[in-house]
Amino acid sequence: MIRIGMLTSGGDCQSLNATMRGVAKSLYKSYGDEVEIIGFEDGYKGLIYADYRIMKPSDFSGILTEGGTILGTSRQPFKLMRVPDENGLDKVEAMKHTYRKLKLECLVVLGGNGSQKTANLLREEGLNIVSLPKTIDNDLWGTDMTFGFQSAVNVATDAIDCIHTTAASHGRVFIVEVMGHKVGWLTLHAGIAGGADIILIPEIPYDINVVVNALKERNRQGKRFSILAVAEGAISKEDASLTKKELKEKKKNGLVYPSVAYELGAKIEELTGQEVRVTVPGHTQRGGEPCAYDRVLSTRLGAEAAGLILNKEYGYMVCVENNEISKVPLEEVAGKLKTVDPECSTIKEAKMLGISFGDE
Ligand code: F6P
Repeated sequence: MIRIGMLTSGGDCQSLNATMRGVAKSLYKSYGDEVEIIGFEDGYKGLIYADYRIMKPSDFSGILTEGGTILGTSRQPFKLMRVPDENGLDKVEAMKHTYRKLKLECLVVLGGNGSQKTANLLREEGLNIVSLPKTIDNDLWGTDMTFGFQSAVNVATDAIDCIHTTAASHGRVFIVEVMGHKVGWLTLHAGIAGGADIILIPEIPYDINVVVNALKERNRQGKRFSILAVAEGAISKEDASLTKKELKEKKKNGLVYPSVAYELGAKIEELTGQEVRVTVPGHTQRGGEPCAYDRVLSTRLGAEAAGLILNKEYGYMVCVENNEISKVPLEEVAGKLKTVDPECSTIKEAKMLGISFGDE
């Protein structure tokens, strides 16, 4: 009998269940009754506090199209992993203890950046780990694509599509705030897919005068409305030049806005006199069913993760490399962010169409 632990960690996304199904079905197919999957509740929390259940093959049936995660998830920040909990419990030792007590052959981790760092920490501590790249942000280093991203692109694109008709009716400026504090993949793709006129992402600090000129130019062309797709972490050139401390101080002394989009909206109204509305799709971007692309990707990644377990190849994250499923050592993934290159072809092509990124 071989025992495999499994957990989903960090922010959820649409294709977690489809991915677990891919791993589980492949394992059951190869091992039959000789494999037992232990599902940890709410991510690493379940591993720390030995909160788990023994899964049955039927648990993984009928979940291909189900959003969320049947195991539950939670954010357990990596930087706090070495900090004892409120009862003085050493979390890393507790996770190792649960793993050993259950006599696990390996632990399967579905997670984004922070979760991959913890997965690598557990690998360094001697645990057998296989991980899978999850996040709507697509910001995991070592993979061209993460599962959840394309589904979120679809949701954010739908939001922009809906805004188009009302923006056109009223002749207003609309800002749609898309998820992504540190990276702009989601905003870039949803912005292009939704036909946004201006796209602002963290990797390309914007100049408010450039944004205003782009809006004025559209007015000159007789366009009745404009749509901006703005990442949660979009930042002005002015703010980008400040140190973290200076920025904190500036925010403390300035007007407090609920988010970047509202601050930008107020600035645009002040400088153009145009009516601005803000839409924040928020967590709807992580909700609902996985799209067809993600279902295929999750199934493939899941099968390959099971393949690594069958071959006893541990310490890897399965990944996408040039459209093929591959694997990358966890130590290479941990702690690195995959950001949008401002010089990449997608941005160049978008600019050729006249989409403004607020920088020139
Ligand atoms: O990492 C995924 C993500 O959805 C980000 O795009 C977003 O900034 C963040 O999580 C929101 O986190 P939470 O669900 O904890 O509010």
